[in-house]
Amino acid sequence: MIGKLNHVAIAVPNLKAAVAKYRDLLGAKVSAPQDLPEHGVTVVFVELDNTKVELLYPLGGNSPIAKFLENNPNGATHHICFEVKDIAASIASLKAQGARVLGDGKPKIGAHGLPVIFLHPKDFDGVLIELEEVK
Ligand code: CO
Repeated sequence: MIGKLNHVAIAVPNLKAAVAKYRDLLGAKVSAPQDLPEHGVTVVFVELDNTKVELLYPLGGNSPIAKFLENNPNGATHHICFEVKDIAASIASLKAQGARVLGDGKPKIGAHGLPVIFLHPKDFDGVLIELEEVK
């Protein structure tokens, strides 16, 4: 079902400092910050040859990342994202096998303009998993 690792998302308490670390210390190619109000995050993409790292910072009063950072004040890995070819078929297969899809169970448009879902961390060893449909 799952294909490539699309990205690893890391919640950071200081976006400028995190950008500086990836760009200057690690020598990576780093995008400009993008505000995604519908997701309650500002995101910076760290572009690697084989995948991406996304640095997530809270945006607005109701950000899901704010609560996560309260629990992880130094920052932490927030989720990992795998590509799937057919998200509807993936959801059906996962649900049939008892895995829980978060929210209303229907795909939403994610940070890259493609349909995504999230799977319950309790079903995946404590890791929040995002699936993104990439044709
Ligand atoms: Co993501």
